Amino acid sequence: MSGERTAKAASRASVDEAAFRATMRRLAAGVTVVTSRHGARLNGMTATAVCSVSADPPLVLVVVNRSNASHELITQGRAFALNFLSADQSELASLFAKRGDKPFDTIPHRLGKTGCPLLEGCTALVECELETLHDVATHTVFIGRVIDNETSECAPLTYHDARFWALQALNQQR
Ligand SMILES: Cc1cc2nc3c(=O)[nH]c(=O)nc-3n(C[C@H](O)[C@H](O)[C@H](O)COP(=O)(O)O)c2cc1C
Repeated sequence: MSGERTAKAASRASVDEAAFRATMRRLAAGVTVVTSRHGARLNGMTATAVCSVSADPPLVLVVVNRSNASHELITQGRAFALNFLSADQSELASLFAKRGDKPFDTIPHRLGKTGCPLLEGCTALVECELETLHDVATHTVFIGRVIDNETSECAPLTYHDARFWALQALNQQR
């Protein structure tokens, strides 16, 4: 191995996982519930690893841990929906961060075009058919083609430093 490669391998090995997690907690993010469906089974998981990929064609991505139940449902159902949570939905964020079946019978929702649940009261909804996926380490990057979307005027929920926050604007309304 060349000296440069050895140095790179050493620097990779020296990144402490806890320090890396602490660093990533500094990144504020919007909070999404990614819903999925396979047959009669519905699920949802809270996620911050969500972003837009391209506008033409309209593509988004979500990064899902392979140990999550959602991973199997998205893979099998070949679809998912992004429910961008509103500032007053932090309880839903906590609920959907838990493992196990989620109580959809008590959570106001409707089924979208793909059959995935669409939660009421979100700041935006994005329905996707699975376009492609990429396995990376412990996770899979699911890329979805947007087949429908809608927005509301609700303020968004954000996540930073292991806490949920509401946004505060620093400048005048545009
Ligand atoms: C704020 C927050 C963000 C999260 N972001 C992600 C994420 O982007 N990807 C992921 O796989 N899990 C993420 N999780 C963890 C999942 O929500 C959690 O593992 C959940 O239990 C998965 O549910 P499931 O097993 O029913 O799919 C996040 C949790 C929280 C609280």
